[in-house]
Amino acid sequence: MNDSLKYRAAVAALDEVRAGMTLGLGTGSTVTHYIRELGRRVGEGLEVRAVATSLRSEALAREVGVPIVTFADVASLDLTVDGADEVSPQLDLTKGLGGALVREKVVARASERFVIVVDDSKIVDRLGTRSPIPVEVVPFASDVVSRRLRAIGGEPRLRRVDGEPFVSDNGNHVVDWRVEPIDDPAALERDLKGITGVVDSGLFTNMADRVIVAGASGVRSLERSP
Ligand code: A5P
Repeated sequence: MNDSLKYRAAVAALDEVRAGMTLGLGTGSTVTHYIRELGRRVGEGLEVRAVATSLRSEALAREVGVPIVTFADVASLDLTVDGADEVSPQLDLTKGLGGALVREKVVARASERFVIVVDDSKIVDRLGTRSPIPVEVVPFASDVVSRRLRAIGGEPRLRRVDGEPFVSDNGNHVVDWRVEPIDDPAALERDLKGITGVVDSGLFTNMADRVIVAGASGVRSLERSP
């Protein structure tokens, strides 16, 4: 939760940005630093354009001068930089505590390269250790899906804000599913995707190419093994 560490991880990702790139912009407090710094560089003449993973990242990008496009304008992205809630030794991720998981996954899958920026509090031995698994559901199906998740195990809870169900940018609800540490996150990601009413989950397996981690002793880079 150290903001200066988040800043250091985020700005390190700017080394990946080249003129002319079409970028994916993640969501969350860590990536906010990246978007602000990107805006500063655009102000100095860097030419890029970007697809945002949330309305709030889009608003921030516009505010700092990063040109925004949509998938109506571009078919693929060169690079997406995003945060994460957990990172495993295999570079599998839990994402979505900020509620943008579906757009984040859409944007990441459309990207040639997917880079994650975190402080070292996010590093875990197994996913599910420090964060619940956010599951975005069609509102009509939230009780059905919650019962199904409870039958699998763990404790699902509908996310609420000020007492009301949280509504994603896609008009859906999110069930935060607290589980035991996960042995096979790729299988669980597939199983969740197979539940009718689930739009997608915050498990992002086999997706990150690089994770930039900032800690008290400096910034290090974890690369996906080929
Ligand atoms: C947003 O939906 C999330 O996936 C974020 O990327 C994740 O929650 C990390 O956020 P912070 O950078 O705020 O910790």
